[in-house]
Amino acid sequence: MRTKITVVGAGNVGATTAQRLAERDYADVVVVDIVEGLPQGKVLDINQSGPVVGYEPNLIGSNGYEESAGSEIVVITSGFPRQPGMSRDDLLAKNKEIVGNVSKEVAERSPDAIVIVVTNPLDAMCHVAYDELGFPRQRVIGMAGVLDSARFRTFLAWELGVSGRDVTGFVLGGHGDSMVPVVSYSNVAGVPVDQLISDERLQEIVQRTRDGGAEVVKLLQKGSAFYAPSAAVVEMIDSIVLDQKRVLPCAALCEGEYGFDGLFVGVPVRLGAQGIEEIVEIDLSETERQALSDSAGTVRELVQALATL
Ligand code: LAC
Repeated sequence: MRTKITVVGAGNVGATTAQRLAERDYADVVVVDIVEGLPQGKVLDINQSGPVVGYEPNLIGSNGYEESAGSEIVVITSGFPRQPGMSRDDLLAKNKEIVGNVSKEVAERSPDAIVIVVTNPLDAMCHVAYDELGFPRQRVIGMAGVLDSARFRTFLAWELGVSGRDVTGFVLGGHGDSMVPVVSYSNVAGVPVDQLISDERLQEIVQRTRDGGAEVVKLLQKGSAFYAPSAAVVEMIDSIVLDQKRVLPCAALCEGEYGFDGLFVGVPVRLGAQGIEEIVEIDLSETERQALSDSAGTVRELVQALATL
């Protein structure tokens, strides 16, 4: 039996996630979307690449959740994407309802699943999903840190003319304008980036990372990023399916860790077959700790706003 993974939402992030999963060839994938024909059409197209690319064409598209029953992993991508000029937070009310309804279906059909939330505003949507699912915190994870870190790593790699694979960088905190690229833990093949790049340039790179999603939205004019977001989701899924125990920045429900209580915040976690197997606590400088706390403060405000909707 192959792992069963459901991707909810057949938009750009969902469909590209399904494509990347198909190419991994370790899972059977169900794509669910309410728009008739959309998930069916996209998976038919992906299935038909199987003989050429070299994977089993086992994807199923569905407008309901019956086909998704018993999934081991569920990715929630459904919701409205950002439009130019919109902040992730503008999406709060619209996507609360969507993610809440999806989570109800998931809880009923796939009660043992590990759920990865992708819909924005990410950290707030993790709270919506967590409350509706009723799953332990190990099994509700938000995707943002891997994406934000990938952007940070890309910009650092370009600055230095090196491979991004040799650049380590963590972005912690909420997936919003106050996210915290942690310079002190960023290095190139072990050499700290602050020994290689001036403070001024580093600050510019940090800011470009924070604006990374908006930069893509502005260029596209319609819709938001999906290649890097789907790559980030699948890196997390690899770690779960293959029990790799990667240490990746993800939105996790902190219960005391980093001084946060009952709040989803982007922190380093060890991801394995059980989901979040550990929240890894790293020492931060006073400035970084303050920045993380400020970023968590914006998440808390959104969570409070959720309660009034
Ligand atoms: C981004 C959206 C997905 O950061 O939040 O591109």
